[in-house]
Parts: sequence; structure tokens; C-alpha cells
Amino acid sequence: MAQKFFSHLLLAQKYWKDFLQPNDHVIDATAGNGQDTLFLAQQLPFGKVYAFDVQKMALENTHLLIDKHHLTERVSLFLSSHEHLLDFAPQPIRLIVYNLGYLPGGDKKITTLSLSTQKSLCQALKIIEKTKGALSIMCYPGHEEGKKEQELLLSLFSSLDPKLWEVCYHQWTNRLSSPTLFWIKRLV
Ligand SMILES: C[S@@+](CC[C@H](N)C(=O)[O-])C[C@H]1O[C@@H](n2cnc3c(N)ncnc32)[C@H](O)[C@@H]1O
Repeated sequence: MAQKFFSHLLLAQKYWKDFLQPNDHVIDATAGNGQDTLFLAQQLPFGKVYAFDVQKMALENTHLLIDKHHLTERVSLFLSSHEHLLDFAPQPIRLIVYNLGYLPGGDKKITTLSLSTQKSLCQALKIIEKTKGALSIMCYPGHEEGKKEQELLLSLFSSLDPKLWEVCYHQWTNRLSSPTLFWIKRLV
């Protein structure tokens, strides 16, 4: 049977794939176990992924995964909060992706926090403004901090000038604690 709906992750990957050029440089702001970093690196034969995480274990997992796929040359890893995007990632950058929350199978207490997420997103908007780039954010309102992040994202992005920014928000209307996806693109 044909698939009618995409999960938030498949939908995000479709946005990324359609948007990226082979030589783009991108940021994965939450590397985790490296699945998103790997997918991005696979789209960028002449490009680069700069991946951030606050957990050493997450970066080790990411390194193992990209090494297994012989893609280490396309990826740089930073053991740092994504609050410091502007300090670490060389520009220009065309896409920045966030997969918020905690490491699957890891310590649920080490989760992205609305305050640092907000600081990071303000930098991310400045970075992609210069390249007519895009931002992709997966959010998990099913846990307390995720709910706060979701409210923050809705408030931050609904104030963006529609002449300059395209802001799209995917939510399961009858499953309000399911993951959501924001896709934000600079137009001019
Ligand atoms: C849902 S996981 C990411 C999943 C990942 N993209 C993947 O493909 O496996 C969220 C990650 O964000 C990380 N994180 C939490 N706070 C962070 C921060 N301030 N800066 C960067 N990463 C952070 C966590 O350590 C966790 O690994």
C-alpha cells in the first residue's frame, strides 16, 4: 500500500535532499547518534557537515557511524553547545538542522533546553540569512522541556517577516504530543 504520510524525520530528510547542492556546507546542531549527520554527509559529495553535541559519547557514536561509511572527510565534530555556532562553524552555511531533545538510549536529563536553543536559533537565522539558506527543526513536545521549546519556536518563527522568510510547521493535529517539524527558508 502506498505511504500516505511521512514521519517528521522522513519529511525532514525530503526537505534536506530537495534543498541541498552537492558542494554545500551544513550544520547538524545536535549530532546525537549521528544518523542525521550521516544522511547529510551522504548528500554532500563535495561539501561538509559541522556537527555539534554537548556529549562526548554522542560524538563518539557519530564518529563510529560516519567512519563505517567512509565519510569522515566530509564531517567535522565539535564537542560544544550549539549556542556557539558562530564561534566554531566556518561560513557560508546553507542548511542548519536541529533534532531537539535527548539522546535516544542515553541520559534523558541531558536534553536540549529552551534558553540555549533560543540563543542558538538566533545565531542560526543570522547565518542562513546570508546564503538564502534554510533551517530544519524537529521538536518533541511529548516531554516537559520539549513543550517549552515548541512554544518558543512557535513564538520566535511566527514573528518572522513573511516577505523575507518562508516558515512551515508540520504537526499531527489529533496527536498533539507527537514530534513536530519546522522548515524555515530565507527568501531574499
Ligand atoms: C534527539 S538527539 C539528536 C539525534 C541525532 N541527530 C541523531 O541523528 O541521532 C539530541 C541531542 O542533542 C544534544 N544536545 C543537548 N543539548 C545540546 C546543546 N546545547 N548543544 C548541542 N547539542 C545538544 C544531546 O546530547 C543529544 O545527543
